[in-house]
Amino acid sequence: MSGIKIRGTGRCVPQHIVTNDDMAKIVETNDEWITTRTGIRHRHHCTGGENHTYLCTQAAKSALEKAGIRPEDIGACIVATLTADELVPAAACTLQRELGLPEDTLCFDLNAACTGFLFGLHTMECLLAASPRKYGLVLGAEVLSRILNWQDRGTCILFGDGAGAAVVEWRQEWPSIGAVLGTRGDNELLRVAGVETGEHSYIQMDGTKVFKFAVETVPHCMDQVLSKAGMTAADVDFFVFHQANARIIDLAVRKYHIPPEKYYKNIEEYGNTSAASIPLVLSELQDLGKIHSGSRVLVVGFGGGLTWGGALIEFA
Ligand code: UT7
Repeated sequence: MSGIKIRGTGRCVPQHIVTNDDMAKIVETNDEWITTRTGIRHRHHCTGGENHTYLCTQAAKSALEKAGIRPEDIGACIVATLTADELVPAAACTLQRELGLPEDTLCFDLNAACTGFLFGLHTMECLLAASPRKYGLVLGAEVLSRILNWQDRGTCILFGDGAGAAVVEWRQEWPSIGAVLGTRGDNELLRVAGVETGEHSYIQMDGTKVFKFAVETVPHCMDQVLSKAGMTAADVDFFVFHQANARIIDLAVRKYHIPPEKYYKNIEEYGNTSAASIPLVLSELQDLGKIHSGSRVLVVGFGGGLTWGGALIEFA
């Protein structure tokens, strides 16, 4: 035994909403195609003074408040992201300054693309076991609007900005979240160029191949999590899926006969927010009262890297 549970969640999305009709003014597309192929109607993009630091700070403050935990109680802070305002300092170090986290709080960023929040939770569970302070802050945050190719209708219509945060607590007597995580080095399916290449850093994706990867990976992760926990899908209180495409979620829902009251989609409002996607869902669900103390939530993610993973998360 020994593991983490979520104490409180928070989120922040930019105010500016970009509709499918707005996208149709930029690339050759239309509301009908985007809605039926992806489930997306809106995405939120940073404007004015909004940036990655702002989104992270607001989301983290809200999670701390809901958890009733002070910054000085935090032992580690991980920001899962691929779009921090600066490469150095890490977004987690900037957040440390904004929140007034102690200097011995271990703060760092983690890049596992859309699976980043799950990688962050697993890493936090390991870290807090060795930390003198047993509360951790895990964020998934992205400003993907800064790395879109506005000439590529296959990608620019998909992505949005946002941040989600969770305050977690570690206890010896709690079960582990039982994360199952995987990676496969591949830069053919999904790629963002880095400093070495001299190319513009924007998302390049073979959507059809990623779609195929996703529909195989989601059930694979779910089966692994359930088998590790000795549970069946019927024992799970709620299912949280990475919001990449509503059709990917619908396929999993059909395969596992998940009733409508046990899963949730917010892709219609935010599009794909990569690492922020899962914590945004968790935060909305907590506010809606759909998940609460004792709820067993099966969370599944997949994305660039390639990366994938699942875990069984409980709320304290
Ligand atoms: O979170 C990271 C992981 N990312 C994902 O999970 C994304 C997974 N992939 C997908 O969600 C889907 O593959 C997309 C939404 C990206 C694309 O949907 P699709 O059903 O796979 O479409 P497609 O790429 O096969 O394209 C079908 C047609 C093509 O036209 P032709 O060749 O049949 O004439 C495309 O050019 O749709 C066209 N198309 C568009 N049409 C209008 C592609 N994008 C658009 C668009 N508007 N935005």
